[in-house]
Amino acid sequence: MAVGVFDSGIGGLTVLDALKRRLPEVPFVYLGDNAHAPYGVRNADDIFNLTCAATERLWDEGCDLVVLACNTAAAAALHRMQATWVPRHKRVLGVFVPLIEALTERQWGDNSPPREVAVKHVALFATPATVATRAFQRELAFRAIGVDVEAQPCGGVVDAIEQGDEILAEALVRSHVEALKRRMPHPQAAVLGCTHYPLVEKSFAEALGPGVKVYSQANLVAESLADYLTRRPEFLGSGTESKFLTTGDARAVSSKATQFMRKSVVFEAA
Ligand code: DGL
Repeated sequence: MAVGVFDSGIGGLTVLDALKRRLPEVPFVYLGDNAHAPYGVRNADDIFNLTCAATERLWDEGCDLVVLACNTAAAAALHRMQATWVPRHKRVLGVFVPLIEALTERQWGDNSPPREVAVKHVALFATPATVATRAFQRELAFRAIGVDVEAQPCGGVVDAIEQGDEILAEALVRSHVEALKRRMPHPQAAVLGCTHYPLVEKSFAEALGPGVKVYSQANLVAESLADYLTRRPEFLGSGTESKFLTTGDARAVSSKATQFMRKSVVFEAA
């Protein structure tokens, strides 16, 4: 009854952690496409092809349901995958919608017309590829009206985190927040639209200052998956074993992941 979790690299481990806490009885197979990361600087076709290949690999592990724990993949490929590629007996879910539902105070599956919501000025921080898709604004427009979104492409942050350079990552976060604030001086909410960013959430919160609610995805995605599996338990696949797979060098990825998560994480070759 395993579920697949996909990210371009190790960022999705922040989501996996929340999924495991919320659904301790479910085995999760994690796949990091480290050989092709970062996705944030790739074009949409490339991201689509890589994400489909990784999803198929997780299906082979007995995971009929795959969570794209990567905003870049979800923003650039999920819609096209669902419309043209995913067979009826499989599911691929993303990380955007649970976040937008939280921001717009909606329950899952509330498809009523867009309405006014409390928050009016939202800052979005994400990779350049995610920002370029405008997927966040599109999903938001289905649910809310009158919300002003200012998006900041945070070049370099994922690379700095992947390289374990916290000082550089924090400096980049501060400069991206400053750049955003020049265009939107008083955001009410900030969305961390990349699974790597929870690792530098404190820097985002400090640079944004008090009074800005910071939305991070992991727990929201976990709640939403738990809810989905209660309604559709048939999508728990046949896999039985939790494991960590990577398309990259398993030893190097294990040591980076262990540093990143501050606990031992052992990857094997995909
Ligand atoms: N972790 C991915 C995300 O949530 C981005 C990393 C990358 O650029 O590959 O968008």
